[in-house]
Amino acid sequence: MSTRAALAVASECAPLVKTGGLADVVGALPAALAGQGWALRTLLPGYPAVMRALGKARPAAAFDDLLGTKARVLAGKAAGLDLLVLDAPALFERPGGPYLTQEGRDWPDNDRRFAALSLAAARIAVRGADGWRPELLHLHDWQAGLVPVYLRALGSRLPCLFSIHNIAFHGLTPASRLKALALPKAGFAIDGFEYYGQISALKAGLTGAQAIATVSPGYARELMTPAFGMGLEGVLQARAGDLHGILNGIDTEAWNPATDPAIAPFRGPAGKEENRARLCAEFGLERGTGPLAAVVSRLSGQKGLDLLLTALPGFLAQGGRLVLLGSGERALENAWLAAAAANPDRVSVRIGYDEALSHRIYAGADAVLVPSRFEPCGLTQLYALRYGALPVVARVGGLADTVIHANEAALSAGVATGIVHDTESVPALADALAQLCQLWQDKHAFRRLQRNAMKHPVGWDASAPRYGALYAALADASPAEPP
Ligand code: ADP
Ligand code: GLC
Repeated sequence: MSTRAALAVASECAPLVKTGGLADVVGALPAALAGQGWALRTLLPGYPAVMRALGKARPAAAFDDLLGTKARVLAGKAAGLDLLVLDAPALFERPGGPYLTQEGRDWPDNDRRFAALSLAAARIAVRGADGWRPELLHLHDWQAGLVPVYLRALGSRLPCLFSIHNIAFHGLTPASRLKALALPKAGFAIDGFEYYGQISALKAGLTGAQAIATVSPGYARELMTPAFGMGLEGVLQARAGDLHGILNGIDTEAWNPATDPAIAPFRGPAGKEENRARLCAEFGLERGTGPLAAVVSRLSGQKGLDLLLTALPGFLAQGGRLVLLGSGERALENAWLAAAAANPDRVSVRIGYDEALSHRIYAGADAVLVPSRFEPCGLTQLYALRYGALPVVARVGGLADTVIHANEAALSAGVATGIVHDTESVPALADALAQLCQLWQDKHAFRRLQRNAMKHPVGWDASAPRYGALYAALADASPAEPP
């Protein structure tokens, strides 16, 4: 099979820089697509962590003026990924996170930072870098949304696939920034990137790309409704024929309970016991007379963890225990810390971001709770399945697409992998937790569910060919580019 070239453009990529599932997916797609005949290079901002990981690199392109700053593109490898890194110190060499200052506020120049990333991507695609040019661009979320606009401005019709990982983030900036971001005035229109008088990088991607992907079939349907489209449902309805819902997978090597160096490795539910005991000890929790549930999550309204706080007392009264690892909104962090303080032996909360601890939690927990209000795909429930922690999830987006609810039919057919409950409802969540407690009491039956969960396919085997076919269709349909 001959190999074809594609450029992925993203603001995060695991294991180099990660704030959520976007990074995992951007980090996993190159390996998944290699088997489909596509060689991906990933363009990332030169954040300090990325520059450090890159180590020895070759200069691949240079820009004297990239939205007012000097920048270069470096080519190299890190963590098995073929990278192009935008080395623009004025934009990316700073402490804090990819989007936020150390105090947790958006960087005031985020519009320019990611417009520069997008402009660099377009220039690389058109003029080449490192003696290389892609046939196709795969753009991830609003940070890469302006790429099609810059490509057109450079006279290119190279095909773009725009992936929606989370439509909640629009990348909005005032219309007065058109000139500073080198955006063509003509694009500032209802069928372009104008959104209620502002510039929307997300809408630029949605209207400018030849095709749109999102991370589950369920979310693809939801996105076209007012309840989930976040104001862009009309744009998505208009592009329904170009919208593809393709389920995320996970990296089943990095997440393999049989070989994971962060845990006591195991091949079946019985092997979780040791990890459970260690987790209880690490968090100072009583072993309990009910299930040990866990949450690993960004703390934001999306995740529904305020609903869980309300349902928590009933769960604890049934002998349940809870471990939470997360960070995000201050009010939620404080509310969870207060819940832990009020129930010291039964609830334990760790505020922060800790990848190794997340592995120990998936390995030791009996269940992982994901009561999201909306969830484009969700990866935590996939890690939970793989590690035999039963997912208890809201019936929404990718959660509903990946967990088989333990109703009577599924239980008697022996196919259930978790518990699925109505979304945004405390009574429904409380019922789901009660069902979890009840299932847990029958050790034999619970182990059977855990075995089902661990057997459920969560890798890229089903989705990689779909991406491969979509890439090929887009690239084959595009007119030849001038040399
Ligand atoms: P989202 O991308 O919306 O945050 P996902 O479920 O797709 O949700 O992905 C979340 C990813 O981030 C998972 O890999 C999860 O394990 C990880 N994660 C979230 N919060 C933390 C944390 N505090 N520490 C370690 N990993 C975390
Ligand atoms: C987003 C979504 C999450 C999804 C992830 C990777 O962060 O919130 O549901 O799994 O992107 O696609």
